[in-house]
Amino acid sequence: MDKTAIQRTCGALVASDADLAVELNGWVNRRRDHGGLIFVDIRDADGITQVVFDPKIAAFAQAETLRHEDVIRVRGSVQRRPAGTENPKLATGEIEVTVDDLLIHSRALVPPFPIASDEDIDENLRMEYRYLDLRRPRLQRNIRTRHRIVKAMRDYFDSRNFVEIETPMLIKSTPEGARDYLVPSRLHHGTFYALPQSPQLLKQILMIAGFGRYMQIARCMRDEDLRADRQPEFTQVDVEMSFASQEDVLELMESCMIHVWKEALGVELPHPFPRFKHEEVMHRFGSDKPDLRFALELKDVSGAFSSSEFKLFRDAAEHPDQAVIGLQYPGGASLSRREFDALTELAKQFGAKGLVYIALGTDGIKSPIAKFLDEETPKLITHMLEAQQGDALLLFAGERNEALTIAGKMRNEIGERCGLRDPAKFAFAWVTDFPLFEKDEETGGPAPAHHPFTAPNDDQWDLLQTDPLAMRAQHYDMVLNGFELGSGSIRIHKPDFQRKIFSMLGMTDEQIEERFGFFVRALDYGAPPHGGMALGIDRIVMLAVGETNIRDVIAFPKNQMARDVMMDAPTPVPVRLLRDLSLEIKQQLGPSK
Ligand code: AMO
Repeated sequence: MDKTAIQRTCGALVASDADLAVELNGWVNRRRDHGGLIFVDIRDADGITQVVFDPKIAAFAQAETLRHEDVIRVRGSVQRRPAGTENPKLATGEIEVTVDDLLIHSRALVPPFPIASDEDIDENLRMEYRYLDLRRPRLQRNIRTRHRIVKAMRDYFDSRNFVEIETPMLIKSTPEGARDYLVPSRLHHGTFYALPQSPQLLKQILMIAGFGRYMQIARCMRDEDLRADRQPEFTQVDVEMSFASQEDVLELMESCMIHVWKEALGVELPHPFPRFKHEEVMHRFGSDKPDLRFALELKDVSGAFSSSEFKLFRDAAEHPDQAVIGLQYPGGASLSRREFDALTELAKQFGAKGLVYIALGTDGIKSPIAKFLDEETPKLITHMLEAQQGDALLLFAGERNEALTIAGKMRNEIGERCGLRDPAKFAFAWVTDFPLFEKDEETGGPAPAHHPFTAPNDDQWDLLQTDPLAMRAQHYDMVLNGFELGSGSIRIHKPDFQRKIFSMLGMTDEQIEERFGFFVRALDYGAPPHGGMALGIDRIVMLAVGETNIRDVIAFPKNQMARDVMMDAPTPVPVRLLRDLSLEIKQQLGPSK
């Protein structure tokens, strides 16, 4: 019997396999001793099968010693489960395997957390035992979906004649706004490679090199503060095209997402994706990555306060750069005083000086500024915000853009509280017409809103000298459910224009030569007009599978302190290695977990 057993995976057997002699290999997912029999669920990459040990077989005594996560091989025959004991939740739930023979491949220690279920476990513990965490159903599902998404992307770009080209990991710094990870050179003491923040300059050079259509599933490294949607190492689907307009890139990337959702997730995305200009999203949603699963648009309600007795709001209404921004809180009138205080605290964390609310209760309005309000003002704002009795009106006053941004953050919070952020809904959008420069908070001067290789609108070069902050860029973002999925732009392809941008950013000719000489020289040799985009794959997968943290879609992520807690990295290295690099550590801070 053993000799003829056919090896099968643990997700394969069905009722029509009854009487087949099979071999299964896998982990002990569960063991139950019941009515003199031992039932074991064996798990492998494909699924779970129930096997049964009868006390009559020689292996029974060994089966009694089996523990969770032991790795075993069983041979036996497939049986239909007795009527009424089928398990419709399992693909193999109609059958079980009656075991003749058991081999224990290896034993497992008691895992520090249960593997068979997805219950919440401290994340650092999960990361320390990542191999066990990865065995659990949720991460198995996430990582497999990630594979399908990436495969769908590769197939899509291949069908559109894109060539995947690998770019190096050890390069010269390419600015994407974060700090570089540096790698010291052993052969050239005192010099450093940078790990790529993205393949930006290399993909542009590939256009100059005549490749026309490039894509890469590209690893990027950025030493920046971590958040739920950021990792120090992450992956982009990175794309560049020659002789392409903004419209071409938008069409290409939008079709890519439609293809990926269909192929990898079986979801038909509504399209075309709505498009908004940057200025418009800022005014309507207070964010350049609005969550469009719900409405709750912001409104400038300054007009309602132009002759108000509440001085703070009247001043904001009168000042050309200030505004009073209103936001509807559906059902918010039922909040207690203490809950409004907590909301005000939250607004302060978002950067607000304060928050004024008007609760539209059934017994009249409640507001800390009630005594300054005439009868008409709340009615007017209620109308402007399309609110109704039972809602609260939230008001933010201050410098217009600041007030909009704070109200935008509160909009997300209200969306969450009111259950408006349906995780099963995918609200894609495009944001276009970004400003070319933003005001640098440290220097006060202009800094690139995207990166310094982004082209302004063609007719705006004159503004470079006179009013750079007014320039608009051929820069676009793809947004999904309140996250920036990706950014791109049409690039500057004329070397003199590229030099102009560098010098406007304060670089001398020597600095341009030292940092970007190789690149402007490449532009000097006939560069095609080109543009492209990069989408963050970790974020795409996170949203596609309904996770809220990108660590849950990455096999081996870093923790919030940028540590790999499984491998224990970073760690000090032997002095001998430092000596080879001519490096000396001045102060060893050591790991802080
Ligand atoms: P950008 O810097 O906007 O553009 O990055 C593109 C996308 O990459 C993802 N991303 C990240 N994901 C996880 N962790 C991070 N730390 C992280 N940083 C960025 C985001 C983001 O939208 N070279 C340009 C693209 C171009 O112009 O073609 C670039 O890298 O999803």
